[in-house]
Amino acid sequence: MSVVNKLKGKVENLKPRVSECAIVVRPLPLIADEIISAGDDFYFKIVFDPTDRHLVALEPARRLELMKGPFARGALVILAIHKPTDTAIGKMWLVSESPVAGDGKRGLLPIQLAKDEIFLFDLWVHKDFRRNAVGITMAYEMGAAVDQFFPEARWVYGYAHVDNEASMQLMSLVYGMWTVQTMKEYEIGDYHVGMVPNSDSPKFGPFSKRGRHSGDGFQMPGRPRSGDTARDYHHREGFARRTVNDAVISDDWMWPGPEWFDTEHPKGSDGKPATPETLPRSM
Ligand SMILES: CC(C)(COP(=O)(O)OP(=O)(O)OC[C@H]1O[C@@H](n2cnc3c(N)ncnc32)[C@H](O)[C@@H]1OP(=O)(O)O)[C@@H](O)C(=O)NCCC(=O)NCCS
Repeated sequence: MSVVNKLKGKVENLKPRVSECAIVVRPLPLIADEIISAGDDFYFKIVFDPTDRHLVALEPARRLELMKGPFARGALVILAIHKPTDTAIGKMWLVSESPVAGDGKRGLLPIQLAKDEIFLFDLWVHKDFRRNAVGITMAYEMGAAVDQFFPEARWVYGYAHVDNEASMQLMSLVYGMWTVQTMKEYEIGDYHVGMVPNSDSPKFGPFSKRGRHSGDGFQMPGRPRSGDTARDYHHREGFARRTVNDAVISDDWMWPGPEWFDTEHPKGSDGKPATPETLPRSM
């Protein structure tokens, strides 16, 4: 590729790309009768660690570096691992806290979450493994993980580009989510995202100044209370409240070395204050 073409490509990449998005929601925990399995070839992992080996193999190093801040503030990823190849072939990113100023450059939309809400974004399954129920199983794993680690969560938001048929279908028909708001997303370059100002509709929702998050309305809009789609939401014995905890958890981030705030900081074999490399921590 010539230098001029490369430059053209770069400039093109820096032009904002705008997409219409639907913000969808469903209650937690999930309901017991919805359990379905992707089969024995897959297992699922709850990752709180940006240095997790499967995640590192899947995501660009730059993205994981950018996401360290959100990870420190309760971001997690549900990974689907294909056992025969020991490879992550599916992912679902979640934040359990509202993004902070500057997180747009890290790839987080400026959603405002109430205390009992979480947000899932960047749902993806490798194309060779689609239509194997991996996408849907990740949702159950998400439900179980949230139930274990964020038991206060009662609602999970998701988002999809409205022209993405697979995603919209999955969210509405399979995840049982309904649209609470629409807004326009802009993307610049590889990671920077944001909301086109004033594109939120209606003006009461997770992307508005006012919404459940602002405490002046506790009603979740659009919840089907009667008819075919009405469900026993917030089921007490919901699937996610499983008694057997067989989840694979990856949460070793920032724990490999000595405690940096120890009064007596341990020394490594070289006699200098130890680092995680010179003195791996044993738990
Ligand atoms: C959307 C996506 C994650 C679905 O993953 P998946 O593992 O194939 O999903 P599942 O096998 O669990 O599908 C469950 C159901 O979702 C719906 N669905 C999935 N893919 C679909 C498609 N291409 N078109 C229409 N409906 C679709 C179907 O109802 C499907 O059930 P069925 O196979 O019994 O008909 C996957 O297509 C993907 O990674 N797409 C590219 C990235 C993307 O668009 N992500 C969403 C961003 S918000």
